[in-house]
Amino acid sequence: MTVKPSTGPPARQPRWGGSPQAPFDSADSPSGLGFAQGRLKPTGHLIAFEGLDQSGKQTQAERLLAAFRAGGHRAEFLTFPEYKTAIGTEIGHALQGERDYAPDTLQLLYIANRFEFRPRISSWLDEGTMVVCDRYLASSIAYGEAQGVDPHWLSAIQRHLPQPSLTLLLDIPPDASLHRKKVARDKFERDLSLLGRVRESYVRQAKEGVRWVHLDGQQDKDAVSAAVLSAVRSQLGLL
Ligand SMILES: Nc1ncnc2c1ncn2[C@@H]1O[C@H](COP(=O)(O)OP(=O)(O)OP(=O)(O)O)[C@@H](O)[C@H]1O
Ligand SMILES: [Mg+2]
Repeated sequence: MTVKPSTGPPARQPRWGGSPQAPFDSADSPSGLGFAQGRLKPTGHLIAFEGLDQSGKQTQAERLLAAFRAGGHRAEFLTFPEYKTAIGTEIGHALQGERDYAPDTLQLLYIANRFEFRPRISSWLDEGTMVVCDRYLASSIAYGEAQGVDPHWLSAIQRHLPQPSLTLLLDIPPDASLHRKKVARDKFERDLSLLGRVRESYVRQAKEGVRWVHLDGQQDKDAVSAAVLSAVRSQLGLL
């Protein structure tokens, strides 16, 4: 496991890429001075799992969700893309080859799909809930960059989404992804050289990003789970 030192801001601020969020509920303060008479708010965190298809994101996200709940935390699980919405349905059509979107347009759809959940995620975080995501912001950067879309642009247009406190890369090589799933591949899942570039983007993001942890997704499931818990403990002081 490679744990990147936390050189960035504390995990919960800024959540919006703007000014740091006040840790106190200033609305409670009749003085208007913010925290003096305010009460401490609970701290929610968004934890994102990233990696190639079949890297174990859902397996590990569900285990982390269970660990949070067993530890007395409120916790919710989201998976992206969420195909149930209108935008998600359109993404499904594109993945099945029924649409021919340019790579930038396709990423705008994936990003819009996340924006559909922004109010829900924000209110969960505000009430102190742990939000565990199977894919999030970095997926658009990785898959978009692998198709020639500017990663800085992809990052900039997602800055008003709630930002993750921690992103866990479950790193597996493309051939391991292919071995774990032999049927029902969508058009991205079949393209080995694209998957190689997706992996490179993920590795770069994990190296350069704040609060990323790069995990070896080829270990057995229990070893990966232990590494996930260790990362959550060391980076967020939870569990
Ligand atoms: N560490 C592991 N070692 C071996 N097999 C694993 C490991 N983790 C998960 N798997 C298996 O790989 C398959 C894919 O796992 P999972 O659905 O969690 O991955 P995913 O990243 O969510 O995949 P997708 O992106 O395709 O939805 C499952 O059959 C799962 O049991
Ligand atoms: Mg999955």
